[in-house]
Amino acid sequence: MSTVLYPGSFDPIHFGHLDVVAQAAELFGNVVVAVMHNPDKPSGTLSTDERVRIAREACASISGVTVQAFAGLAVDAAQSVNALCIVKGLRTPGDFEVEQQMAHTNFAVAGVRTVYVPCQPGLSHVSSRFIRDIAAHGGDVSSMVPPVVAAALASAQRS
Ligand code: PNS
Repeated sequence: MSTVLYPGSFDPIHFGHLDVVAQAAELFGNVVVAVMHNPDKPSGTLSTDERVRIAREACASISGVTVQAFAGLAVDAAQSVNALCIVKGLRTPGDFEVEQQMAHTNFAVAGVRTVYVPCQPGLSHVSSRFIRDIAAHGGDVSSMVPPVVAAALASAQRS
């Protein structure tokens, strides 16, 4: 049984992320879902505290999973929880290109390895960006996120 770190923006967490969390928990035992900042992405709809809150609720039924916010580098977060490696999900060849560069960089600067988990084929279209966009226009995101996330997005739109 090992601990792995699954870092991401999770803005918001969705069924694709939850599939990766479930696979990683089955493979490794303990998964720390690390809610982090991506400097390449504009701040989304939900605060970090809100992203952590709904990720905790969404992951509650998967045993061995904890959710924490981390500032700074993913490699420092991984080392702070004694993670065996970082886990990332892959949906598309485009994901692989981005993730491979990050994985090589994280190994080069800190010796932290990355293991990729392929998402289920039926989830490859699911993305936080599109979910935010659809929710902002009052669309139905219930096929892509659990109810707690849909409710948080709807509430964010009202405030
Ligand atoms: O869900 P995302 O937005 O694809 O996650 C990207 C994230 C947050 C994992 C990435 O931006 C990250 O690792 N941020 C922490 C800062 C860091 O470690 N930067 C160096 C990356 S090689």
